[in-house]
Amino acid sequence: MAESFPNLTVLQHPLLQHKLAVLRDKHTSKKTFRELVDEISMLMGYEVTKGLPLEPIQIETPLERTTAYIVSGKKLTLVPVLRAGLGMVEGFLRLMPSVRVGHIGLYREHDTLRPVSYYFKIPPEPASRDFVVLDPMLATGGSAVRAVSLLKENGAARVRFVCIVAAPEGVRRMLDAHPDVQIWTASLDRQLNEVGYILPGLGDAGDRLFGTR
Ligand code: PRP
Ligand code: URA
Repeated sequence: MAESFPNLTVLQHPLLQHKLAVLRDKHTSKKTFRELVDEISMLMGYEVTKGLPLEPIQIETPLERTTAYIVSGKKLTLVPVLRAGLGMVEGFLRLMPSVRVGHIGLYREHDTLRPVSYYFKIPPEPASRDFVVLDPMLATGGSAVRAVSLLKENGAARVRFVCIVAAPEGVRRMLDAHPDVQIWTASLDRQLNEVGYILPGLGDAGDRLFGTR
């Protein structure tokens, strides 16, 4: 099914799939769940940044002068969606310790599943930045689409979206609303249930990360 979504990349690395299997298990402890979200995020960060442009610089090794390559001046900026996206930040920061971090606060209204926005803060000069939105779950897509809309309304031009589990409904909704936004996920799951949870999924990511249920 993933092939029918031009906006989707499903990362199939065996280590990612192994860690995701443990993450999904309802018997996995809160501590292990947190650690796995962190490890999965770092592995995904490695893949998501594969296409970053490089620029040559001149350096001197202990032996001679040479041309080496560094990531060119794009201002990569992480934007976790509160709350569950917070669990993904450290994994990305371990790879890119100097990047800036914005925050978007959204929760799904219980009955309607519509996203309610309660916080928005991003670094200055959004038009010159490459934003990477982090949220482990893409379910109906309401929260993800709203997060991207808020970024664009505030001047963002380039946005990527990284989640750990995606539902087809959410990927489709993002494609319809923001066809320019590429989504990376570790799994495209089967479907949503009648109350908007992903099947097979992993349950409520925020509650499992923070122990709120
Ligand atoms: C979860 C998740 C996403 C959203 C996905 O957050 O972290 O933000 O649901 O669902 P959607 O695609 O249908 O919008 P939740 O609303 O539970 O907020 P929380 O992390 O603060 O608990
Ligand atoms: N949010 C979650 O945390 N899990 C789901 O399955 C759907 C939305």
